[in-house]
Amino acid sequence: MCAPTHFEVTYAINAWMRPGVAVDRRRALVQWEVLRQTYSALGHRVHVLDGVPGLPDMVFAANGATVVGGRAYGARFRHPERAAEAVEHAAWLRGQGVAVADPTQTNEGEGDFLVLGSMILAGTGFRTSLHAHVEAARVLDRPVVSLQLVDPRFYHLDTALAVLDDGNGDAPADIAYLPSAFSEHSRRTLRELFPDAVECTEEDALVLGLNAVSDGRHVVVPVQARTLARQLEERGYVPVPVDVSELLKAGGSVKCCTQEHHS
Ligand code: ARG
Repeated sequence: MCAPTHFEVTYAINAWMRPGVAVDRRRALVQWEVLRQTYSALGHRVHVLDGVPGLPDMVFAANGATVVGGRAYGARFRHPERAAEAVEHAAWLRGQGVAVADPTQTNEGEGDFLVLGSMILAGTGFRTSLHAHVEAARVLDRPVVSLQLVDPRFYHLDTALAVLDDGNGDAPADIAYLPSAFSEHSRRTLRELFPDAVECTEEDALVLGLNAVSDGRHVVVPVQARTLARQLEERGYVPVPVDVSELLKAGGSVKCCTQEHHS
């Protein structure tokens, strides 16, 4: 995670951002701190990367790399405004002893790569290129399933689909998603892979309800996504609602703030 120390909205690279919108950075910091403590309380170890002045989106740490089995596939941002973040993440990961593969293809880390035990779900259409899907499969040594995003409001895969269970334990892999955010072909792929998936309402997706982080039991989910929380509860998950609404002004929420290191 990376604290929103330098958070602001000074440019618009997605449909949610309005440059110059008033941002309450203190509120953003408090909300982020609650998210960090929520993970700690759930027993997850959290590492914090220092923010850098002039990189207002750096709080969205998910985008900095994709880490699987002690190996990382570095990010290469679509927009020049965020390019320097990739360097910070790669340096930090290397400092932790993680082998980082420098990407030759445009990709925004775990914004578009969602890691399951047996495969990686990968988004394309707005940020991450299809070539990066191929590169990620090779670098991370895991099959990659490409999914086409079609709605600019859901520009990263992690805004349109949430991994509820990665399938590494006893239960099969499980996801929640918004079908209309995907091309017809990708919808069919998702239906075939996950016939029992949770279908999120558009209302909940529009508060970035799918931008959630699950450990297979507890699902840390934006508090505004009420119906989704109920759907999760009905299938035996424990929704843990948190409010990071200040960050929504930049088009990000819970998962965006969280780079998970997968086994
Ligand atoms: N303002 C950021 C951008 O448009 C938000 C990134 C959100 N991150 C995510 N994983 N969806 O790049």
